[in-house]
Amino acid sequence: MTRIPKSEYARRRKALMEQMEPNSIAILPAAPMYIRNRDVEHVYRQDSDFQYLSGFPEPEAVIALIPGREHGEYVLFCRERDPERELWDGLRAGQDGAVNDYGADDAFPIGDIDDILPGLIEGRDRVYYAIGTNEAFDHRLMEWIKTIRAKARQGAQPPSEFVALDHLLHDMRLYKSSNEVKVMKHAAEISARAHICAMQASRAGLFEYHLEAELDYEFRKGGAKMPAYGSIVAAGRNACILHYRENDAPLRDGDLVLIDAGCEIDCYASDITRTFPVSGRFSPEQKAIYELVLAANEEAFKHIAPGRHWNEAHEATVRVITAGLVELGLLQGEVDELIACEAYKPFYMHRAGHWLGMDVHDVGDYKVGGEWRVLEPGMAMTVEPGIYIAADNQDVARKWRGIGVRIEDDVVVTRSGCEILTGGVPKSVAEIEALMAAAREQAA
Ligand code: GLY
Ligand code: MN
Ligand code: MN
Repeated sequence: MTRIPKSEYARRRKALMEQMEPNSIAILPAAPMYIRNRDVEHVYRQDSDFQYLSGFPEPEAVIALIPGREHGEYVLFCRERDPERELWDGLRAGQDGAVNDYGADDAFPIGDIDDILPGLIEGRDRVYYAIGTNEAFDHRLMEWIKTIRAKARQGAQPPSEFVALDHLLHDMRLYKSSNEVKVMKHAAEISARAHICAMQASRAGLFEYHLEAELDYEFRKGGAKMPAYGSIVAAGRNACILHYRENDAPLRDGDLVLIDAGCEIDCYASDITRTFPVSGRFSPEQKAIYELVLAANEEAFKHIAPGRHWNEAHEATVRVITAGLVELGLLQGEVDELIACEAYKPFYMHRAGHWLGMDVHDVGDYKVGGEWRVLEPGMAMTVEPGIYIAADNQDVARKWRGIGVRIEDDVVVTRSGCEILTGGVPKSVAEIEALMAAAREQAA
């Protein structure tokens, strides 16, 4: 299993601490455990920022980074070992594990945090903290500050400044290291296999959830704990619902099915969309729309390279799609004018992509100083143009209605251009039809 090495977490903490002002402390809570119903918990997923700095997988934990602290700069509060609880719920690292296995310089029981953390904050000028992302923790932090203020007459000094930690951290997260790219490639490879299996399994008479089951099976067999987001398996006109989640409709002969799904490995996402015919052969209209989206997808890669700005790939997809819609008779007019008045938007209403990383819609600013961000090596993103022709669109001939196509790949900016991480799933009409025909032959 590809994983981020321990040394990389240490490197990240050091890089963050180097950016912090002198005499400051950074504080990050682990993700809360969410209850699903009564005493049943949701599958636990660590907070991405917390994970980024620690790799520590448990809930009920708090990181304190205190550059220059004599007894250790990296302090981790976490659950104590507890044989009774561990018998029911699984092993815990405990304070020894926090130090020996996760590189903490110092570790304390989470139950002691009210007594210890105010003492660590006291006397520091600044607190780096992501205010407003975890309301319950915001409240606790304010209580600790009040504890310090209450001791002001004994000489205790509360911090004078709060600094947005997320901004520093999110800029770091935007640039993927070679280890991160390796993990993302691994996630992408598993997801590619899952998409292939779904194509091979597709046939009329099944339901969308049958294909979702194929995806889940491949994700888990690949070692992924969970999908990076709720899988979309959308047959026929359901493909025109961008975040369709029901996944319970029948697959009908003659329809397309759009699958947008990717797994997560070591908290890194993959995000792939493929669209294919339920029964393995595109109709002429489906093929025309599909090949137009594919042309937009492929054009976008040419605009992703160091020195190009974030929006260039999107603009390229808009141009290809608008020109193609005119050619097919779905739009009438002059391409530049149609782009200027956003005539493509009833068909292509979302952007061509987003940053990709620990979060599927990853962190990082898209604009800097009001200008689109200029791409640099290590930035990872999706390329996902689509065309969706609403079933009730009276402005187009009936034969086009209800067709929805999206094609999504994951890329990382390299020194000379970009590398596609999701090349393992077929994309051309001929490749998809051949793959599906071979699966049918085998099944027959
Ligand atoms: N599946 C969400 C997205 O493609 O952005
Ligand atoms: Mn997607
Ligand atoms: Mn996406």
